[in-house]
Amino acid sequence: MRAATASLAERVRQDFPILRQTVHGKPLVYLDNAATSQKPQSVIDAITSFYTHDCANVHRGVYLLSERATDSYEAARGKAQRFLNAADVREIVFVRGATEGINLVAQSFVKPRLAAGDEVLITAMEHHSNIVPWQMVTAERGAHLRVAPINDRGGLILEDFERLLGPRTRFVSVTHVSNALGSINPVHRIVEMAHARGVPVLIDGAQAAPHAKLDMLGLDCDFYVFSGHKVYGPTGIGVLYGKAAHLEAMPPYQGGGDMILSVTFEKTEYNTPPYKFEAGTPNVAGAIGLGAAIDYVESVGLADITAHEGELLCHATGALAAIPGVRIVGTSRQKAAVISFVVEGVHAHDVATVLDREGIAVRAGHHCAQPVMERFGLAATARASFAMYNTIEEVDALARAVTKVKGILDWCRSWGRCTSRES
Ligand SMILES: Cc1ncc(COP(=O)(O)O)c(C=O)c1O
Repeated sequence: MRAATASLAERVRQDFPILRQTVHGKPLVYLDNAATSQKPQSVIDAITSFYTHDCANVHRGVYLLSERATDSYEAARGKAQRFLNAADVREIVFVRGATEGINLVAQSFVKPRLAAGDEVLITAMEHHSNIVPWQMVTAERGAHLRVAPINDRGGLILEDFERLLGPRTRFVSVTHVSNALGSINPVHRIVEMAHARGVPVLIDGAQAAPHAKLDMLGLDCDFYVFSGHKVYGPTGIGVLYGKAAHLEAMPPYQGGGDMILSVTFEKTEYNTPPYKFEAGTPNVAGAIGLGAAIDYVESVGLADITAHEGELLCHATGALAAIPGVRIVGTSRQKAAVISFVVEGVHAHDVATVLDREGIAVRAGHHCAQPVMERFGLAATARASFAMYNTIEEVDALARAVTKVKGILDWCRSWGRCTSRES
């Protein structure tokens, strides 16, 4: 297994031109994949080719360039449908990313269904993108946001989640994988529990889509969102999957061109899904780039990616946990390849700054999940998150650099050259 997955990283690395550079004189070790992943040459080429040969607006022209642009844009939708194993291509709405997908559902599906006293249920491990849109709609309607707690390992307490599914629960919105902790939620069980009470469910798949095979037909959730830029695709494009019946029944999110069948000053007839939700000129190049990213991920194989990242996670967990003064935050039994950690007495930003000097890019901060930080009594963590192109050698480089962190900062402090922020 080790040899097979190691060769996967070696094989795919050459497809990512950005990884060939040095940073501060050291080979770049990119470990901020939960924020955004790097792009293979085929994605860069697909976007360049669109602008070089096919650039035109979609759905509007009868000339060749517009037809080619439309065909590529709609082909990308078909790729997203297959990637998600969705029943119908009309269930795939292009959005800017996971954030916009959640806001769309909050405004168009949930808000009209909420009355004063109703509840929306989320978990304590959500990204701000899956908290704030629900605060906005519940506040507008006099409804309440309920939050299912997590345990000390960072796993959802399923019994509490089930207890909070009450007679006033109108919607459940839960992350598939926590970006701050790596915890994988039991989304099948969550959907079953909610559906047993007639409650629709949105799954935020921003951190799941790059790492594991998705299956909308099997999962049976009502909505699923992900962002292209975390799946080796471009920024500014993502997918909202919604069951056809829901999308049919929902009012549009925004008004404008392309989302209509006819317009008079007296009355507008809306287009059918998914176009009803794609007002204005869409991100054509972004969708084409996402289609190329999906092709790329599928050519590598999600099963192999999952296995390789599992090996990286295991190795990194052991290596970091063995360093004195390092504590891993988020030790759920079901974890994706994301490791949040703190170094005793050193602020996460200082950790990340020292690692940067070693060529290693990690994220430091609250990871847009401030309630998670609060749950663990922390202001910030450093976070290493892995992708298909990361190697065991890079994990070892991370561990060596983290070992250096305390020594460097102690030395700095003793000479009064720097003061670490309060941790
Ligand atoms: C779990 C989760 N949900 C939602 C988002 C928001 O994604 P985007 O900013 O691409 O819309 C992120 C981004 O990090 C995330 O990790």
